[in-house]
Amino acid sequence: MNIKTNIKNAPIHFPLLLLLSTFSIIFFPALITHSDENNTYYLDDLNLSIVKQGWGEHPKKNLSCVGNPIKINGTTYQRGVGTHANATFYILLDGSASKFEAILGIDDETEGNGSAFIRFYGDNKLLHTSQTLTGNKPPEKVSINLEGISNFIISIIDAYDGISFDHVDLADAVFTMAHGKPELTTRPKEKPYILTPSPAPSPRINSPRVIAVRPGSPFLFRIPCTGERPIQFHLEGLPEGLTVNSEGIITGTIKNRTPDTYPIQITATNNHGKDQNTLKIVVSETLALTPPMGWNHWYIHYDKITADIIKQSADLMITSGMADVGYQYVNIDDCWANAKEHHDPMRVGPERNENGDILPNKHFPNMKDLTDYIHSKGLRAGIYSSPGPQTCAGFTGSYQHEEQDAKKFAEWGFDFLKYDWCSYSKILSPKKIENLKKPYQQMGDILKKLDRDIVFNLCQYGMGAVWKWGKEVGGNSWRTAGDLGYELLQYHDVARRNASHWEYTGPGAWNDPDYLLIGYIVDPTTMGEPKPCPLTPSEQYSYMSLWCLMASPLFFSGDMTRLDEFTLNILCNPEVIEINQDPMGIQGHPIIINKEQNYEIWIKPLSDRSTAIGIFNLDEIEQNIAVQWNEIGLSENQKVRDLWRQTDLGTHNKSFTTSIPRRGVALLKLTPI
Ligand code: GLA
Repeated sequence: MNIKTNIKNAPIHFPLLLLLSTFSIIFFPALITHSDENNTYYLDDLNLSIVKQGWGEHPKKNLSCVGNPIKINGTTYQRGVGTHANATFYILLDGSASKFEAILGIDDETEGNGSAFIRFYGDNKLLHTSQTLTGNKPPEKVSINLEGISNFIISIIDAYDGISFDHVDLADAVFTMAHGKPELTTRPKEKPYILTPSPAPSPRINSPRVIAVRPGSPFLFRIPCTGERPIQFHLEGLPEGLTVNSEGIITGTIKNRTPDTYPIQITATNNHGKDQNTLKIVVSETLALTPPMGWNHWYIHYDKITADIIKQSADLMITSGMADVGYQYVNIDDCWANAKEHHDPMRVGPERNENGDILPNKHFPNMKDLTDYIHSKGLRAGIYSSPGPQTCAGFTGSYQHEEQDAKKFAEWGFDFLKYDWCSYSKILSPKKIENLKKPYQQMGDILKKLDRDIVFNLCQYGMGAVWKWGKEVGGNSWRTAGDLGYELLQYHDVARRNASHWEYTGPGAWNDPDYLLIGYIVDPTTMGEPKPCPLTPSEQYSYMSLWCLMASPLFFSGDMTRLDEFTLNILCNPEVIEINQDPMGIQGHPIIINKEQNYEIWIKPLSDRSTAIGIFNLDEIEQNIAVQWNEIGLSENQKVRDLWRQTDLGTHNKSFTTSIPRRGVALLKLTPI
């Protein structure tokens, strides 16, 4: 492909050329050099397949993002790039460009919908912010001076209102270069950086500090505590029926069956010191009083999961230190039952036995043995099913065997059920709200009657505004959107949408934006080899901060066998997790969106009268960002603590300013004095 439109290569018009050159030579001698040396390169001629965007594969050459001719406000353009928010173009210029020109707008195909803006950066400086482009609005023509710029970035931003209909066109987008040519490149690499200090050798008792059990149900809880082992645990106030072992695992059944709260004083001691804290055991019908935390196999093992991998993951949850900061559930996702057809013959077999009991496939030879193993470590076990006849991956579902399956899961010893809509659309149309509720209400009622506590996770991708009724049908958490794996790069937008339902959360009822896809994961779009998370280190800090501020269930879904130091530092900061596990259970949400500087401030009020705030720099460059207390509803002097670094930053009476790396976060705890 010839990506160069050089004056020399243009069709020759002799009389005009003669006239022009004579004119130039006589009157503007410099023009000759200029014309000779300045080449134009169209953005649409660059390797657009490098660019990832929020919807659709890649930006399109000379077409809108859905493949129509580019048309903005009634005018059709022959050339240009059709893209979709959010997307970022990283372009190497080698300091040899003079300008970039383009006509920016939302494509007419959206029929007036969509809104986005574009920020242009050069060598770590903001060069221009477009107006907010909206459907049916005249385009903005830009001419950006690129003299001396080596790294040029075009960032398409969704105007903070979600990416729907954000069909952004850059029509007639062209570079003028003195020499060389522009080159689209992948986003610059960022070295992992570790903010969190290693846990001290002395004990620290970590969250969760409130844990529920239904009257008469078996109880199991491993006290999350960092510090060098062995640690001696001394508990006061343990209700009759419960005992604690030398590893800090509390088991038994509380004798008293009336709803009550037992504040247990825990003292943890080792050679380096001791810590004391209160754990509240609440006997109530409502489970999951704080967001469930654990590991789920989906995004790393998919249909290759085996009981051995699950056992190994339980081992690693202990040895990695994850359990010491509160991770508790070891959850099997889809593909543990039999399928009618599968490339692995060990996963093919009868759905049920002659009694109608659901059958695990040959990779799960003994479910009871598996949960016993998980429980022996003080951890809890999770399982997966669908209300439909088949799960999403085509394995046996619970349709018409709901009660029998739930009883089986309890008998096997499971403590958590993810119930995934999948093929239920074959049974009832998801278009009606009563149909959406029906299978979940049914399973919710069944679970309540079991003599084992099973936390109930609804997975139906947010249909029918599930956050409004998930709790009413017995759910403890509900996915608010589709699978995050397909839009991981849009994690911030996903979080924003999830947070818009913040008023529906509270103890026992959590909005679930899907798992923590960090460390080594398998991209569901390619199903290739496990690869490190594509987000930059700063973005991973932001991702975890968002999940903690949102009181989201915290399920790591990467490879437990390849937990590097950086990933563990993201997953295991107990002060960050405390924000997530705050017993008041208010979901944080954005309260300031600043377009000029492209940042957001999220707040989450905490039970000790302090406030967690996340300042998210959404820009492609590092920025100083100031937060005024009065803008976020605070007035008094505030003690500021940096939670990622676990460092106090002094007392500030009106505002606080900090420098935040590109796409990074400052996660702070503000305590009024
Ligand atoms: C759906 C769910 C995922 C996962 C798969 C399993 O896509 O949303 O979280 O459970 O099914 O097939």
